[in-house]
Amino acid sequence: MRSVQTLALAMATGLLPLAAVGADVDPYGSNNGTFPTAEQWQGPFRIANFDFPKHQPHDRWLNGKGMGEISTGNAEAYMETLRTFVEPSVKAMIDAPLEWDHAAEGWYDMPWTAGDREPLLGAFSGQTILADAFAEFGQKAAFTNHAVIYYNDVAAGMLGRIWANPFSPDFRAIDFPEGSIVIKALGAEVTPENFPPVEGSQIWNVFAKPFDGSSNTEQVVDTRVIQFDIVVKDSIAAPGTGWVFSTYIYDKDAAGETTWDKLVPLGAMWGNDPELALQADGGTGKLMETWVNPDAPAYSSATLGWGGRLSGPMDLAERQNILFTDGTRAETMTEVSACLSCHSTGQTPFIANLYPGPNKSFPPAGQTFFLHKPGSPEWAQWYRNREGTLPFSSVEGVVGTDYNMLLTFAINTFYASTGQTEKVTRHIDVH
Ligand code: HEC
Repeated sequence: MRSVQTLALAMATGLLPLAAVGADVDPYGSNNGTFPTAEQWQGPFRIANFDFPKHQPHDRWLNGKGMGEISTGNAEAYMETLRTFVEPSVKAMIDAPLEWDHAAEGWYDMPWTAGDREPLLGAFSGQTILADAFAEFGQKAAFTNHAVIYYNDVAAGMLGRIWANPFSPDFRAIDFPEGSIVIKALGAEVTPENFPPVEGSQIWNVFAKPFDGSSNTEQVVDTRVIQFDIVVKDSIAAPGTGWVFSTYIYDKDAAGETTWDKLVPLGAMWGNDPELALQADGGTGKLMETWVNPDAPAYSSATLGWGGRLSGPMDLAERQNILFTDGTRAETMTEVSACLSCHSTGQTPFIANLYPGPNKSFPPAGQTFFLHKPGSPEWAQWYRNREGTLPFSSVEGVVGTDYNMLLTFAINTFYASTGQTEKVTRHIDVH
């Protein structure tokens, strides 16, 4: 009973419901097993692809062609090239979700994640965007989002090695090969009336309990594509972390026909700018490892991360009701996190907070959120650059998961499902 409640709560509110899932998840399941009736849904169900390559595929990403190290000067070109690189296999995911066959297009899923995925798209439920988050852009109600996540063939070569036996994952295999690409696309469960920036965006249906509370049972609900992330393992471009994190945002005013055409760069991030992490303002205006597109739609750059580091509009860089570890308080702080800082906590067991705070898990909505003081040595731990195979916490037995969160939570679910309770992070509920 208890685990059911935990799951329900996490499903309703969590950024990370994965970690809260109880036992007995099929490692190779596609979804949580909750299906619509034939009246509710006549479309297809997206079935997960675990048919990992038997031999490690070669890196087809382009560094051999000489883009070299990424910088604020060439990041825009890098992002354009990256977008063009994935376009043939991903455009239909955005524009024609019912037709897109991800297995045929060479995209793969993470085992041990079925419990948190709905059946229509295999989407994970996302975080809550508070009603006033984008008030100045016409937002009228709180909303949530749903995300799909896929790994390319190069990354899937590694997944096949880690999960050769899903009941005995090989942690030594964790090290994404060069050219690994992971994509995440998010649909916001909100109407254009309640959030004008999504006007005209492609509708994705998911089967979930409506966020607006209109039903207590799962329904087919509309979401609208809003954010598309691409991360690529490219140690030539990003020697400090090995990863380039990039995000593209729906811009209703952009040129083009389809939603894919209107996904414009918000920015890229390839390091945490650690040299500026001991400054109270995070080095605002001086960042060398984040590039933000000055022409991105205004709503999307209103929610950047600490000191202007990259964070997307759905990534929750803001926290409320904060108690800093020096005893001071803040009602709200908008720039707490950033793509690579949050992802740098990927390790197993999962023992550090996603945010720069002293506790391991998150308080429920409205309760006090602990944070270190921005710019303090403790805070700066979240703004280091390191190889992803090194764990965030230097504690014996802890293994780095190479900046990958879904892998982190999949392993957590594996622990939970196999009775290794001492390694399970129980209640990671970000709200
Ligand atoms: C506050 C923490 C946080 C921030 C900030 C954040 N992410 Fe994530 N990200 C997550 C979590 C947690 C997941 C796991 C899946 C989920 O819950 O949606 C994830 C999943 C992903 C994935 C799928 C692969 C993986 O690691 O699981 C990609 C790709 C991704 N994020 C890209 C980005 C990009 C690009 C940014 C910045 C624009 C960003 N993220 C900012 C927490 C964060």
